[in-house]
Amino acid sequence: VKLYCDGADLDNIQGLCCNPWIRGFTTNPTLMRKAGIVDYQAFAHRLLCLVHPRPVSFEVFADNPEEMEAQALAIAGWGSNVNVKIPVTNPAGKFMGPLIHRLSAAGVALNITAILTLGQVEEVVRALYPGTPAIVSVFAGRIADTGVDPVPIMKRAVTIVRHLPRVELLWASPREVLNIFQADEAGCDIITVPPDLLKKLDLIGKDLKEYSLETVAMFHRDASIAAYC
Ligand code: E4P
Repeated sequence: VKLYCDGADLDNIQGLCCNPWIRGFTTNPTLMRKAGIVDYQAFAHRLLCLVHPRPVSFEVFADNPEEMEAQALAIAGWGSNVNVKIPVTNPAGKFMGPLIHRLSAAGVALNITAILTLGQVEEVVRALYPGTPAIVSVFAGRIADTGVDPVPIMKRAVTIVRHLPRVELLWASPREVLNIFQADEAGCDIITVPPDLLKKLDLIGKDLKEYSLETVAMFHRDASIAAYC
């Protein structure tokens, strides 16, 4: 599975962009708001310069198909390594299939985002134009947030997406390092990981007895600060 970084904090991204394990980047309006981005184009330009030539997914901000289409075409013009993120539905729940088809047929590399059901994966695969590259982002972590195991869903999504050439399945919203192994085993092409979780990759293969000792030491350190009564 290819590792992408999901974020909008340029300082964080600058620290990560030399890491050869990070093969691409994704962002979204919520991450941008949290990072205090006010000028989308200036942000995108800096991000693209930092991570060139790796792929970056940028999301449209509009909520109606006409404006989304205009924004998507403009965003696609920012670079040949750009995927344009289109939410699977508008905020009212209307499937964005015709827009996805038009953009994909025009050769725009898309990233269809906020997908949580296999029905949506099937609809998206039907809407995409065969041969144009695209990413299908299934929010496995949000599925898990509802108490449902996302692994069987992701495995089935892999088989659906395989029918289209140049379409990649992305495991979105990971919650723990284990998800990287699960995404790999399920056959996903990409997993996009936020910087805080990427920091935990150092823990892979760590001796668990040593980790237990470090945990005890942490409690001991913190206990010495609080008063016992
Ligand atoms: C992917 O492209 C999304 O930006 C991201 O994975 C969303 O994660 P969240 O569900 O934790 O908001």
